[in-house]
Amino acid sequence: MMKRSLFSFSLFLFFLHLTKTLALSPAAPTSPLGPANIMKILEKAGNFTTFIRLIKATHVDIQLSSQLKSSGDGITILVPSDSAFSILRADTLNSLADKEKVELVQFHVLTQFLLLSQFDTVSNPVMTLAGSSGRLLLNITVTGNVVNITTGIDYATISDTIYTDNQVAIYQIDKMLLPFDLFAPGPVPAKPAESPENDVPKDASSSTSLVLNYIVVLFELCRVAEIVLL
Ligand SMILES: *[C@@H]1O[C@H](CO)[C@@H](O)[C@H](O)[C@H]1NC(C)=O
Ligand SMILES: *[C@@H]1O[C@H](CO)[C@@H](O)[C@H](O)[C@H]1NC(C)=O
Ligand SMILES: *[C@@H]1O[C@H](CO)[C@@H](O)[C@H](O)[C@H]1NC(C)=O
Repeated sequence: MMKRSLFSFSLFLFFLHLTKTLALSPAAPTSPLGPANIMKILEKAGNFTTFIRLIKATHVDIQLSSQLKSSGDGITILVPSDSAFSILRADTLNSLADKEKVELVQFHVLTQFLLLSQFDTVSNPVMTLAGSSGRLLLNITVTGNVVNITTGIDYATISDTIYTDNQVAIYQIDKMLLPFDLFAPGPVPAKPAESPENDVPKDASSSTSLVLNYIVVLFELCRVAEIVLL
């Protein structure tokens, strides 16, 4: 009897220990933020209406939460302000296909959580949500208090902290980040009318035809001469 109660008591202790251990074992770090909350933070901050529209239209907002669930590294969102969009060329966004618009928005999400003080610890190039096999990466340099994000096409600096917990950081940037892979200048199409090099072949061809005409005339003259001489 005594033995049995001792046994059940130690069993009880064992379970107590087990539940305590389970409760204390570190769970995967999760941000309390879902995509809806991230959108709310941006809406409340003001000045991000264009980016909010883009992030919703491309469904990258939903991808943010799956990224947070699948990776313990957190995310850092670099959000261009509305005035950042106003200095863009009007056709910048319209020139992109839907898939490229998704990549453009994903490009503004770094796949690691970074406090402002941690930006000078990253190694370049930095991975974005869009990045894979060397594409759609960006570089970060810190000079004094200035965090400079370069894409190879343009650069932006962080102008404000919108939100941080220990998994999600949101910063305002002063310019849209234009990925090199989407906006690299392609081969410049020739403009025949304006380029002086193109005038040369034009002249050459007309002088060639002049020479040809001359030969034809000469030939005809010879033929006439032949007829006359006969
Ligand atoms: C929006 O941006 C402008 C210009 O940068 C600034 O003057 C204004 O205070 C900002 N508004 C909000 C709500 O942050
Ligand atoms: C950011 O980096 C670019 C490219 O390296 C450079 O041209 C620009 O001057 C830098 N801007 C700031 C504010 O440091
Ligand atoms: C980014 O950094 C890498 C490594 O330092 C360098 O090779 C690359 O040229 C940089 N790209 C840009 C656009 O600054």
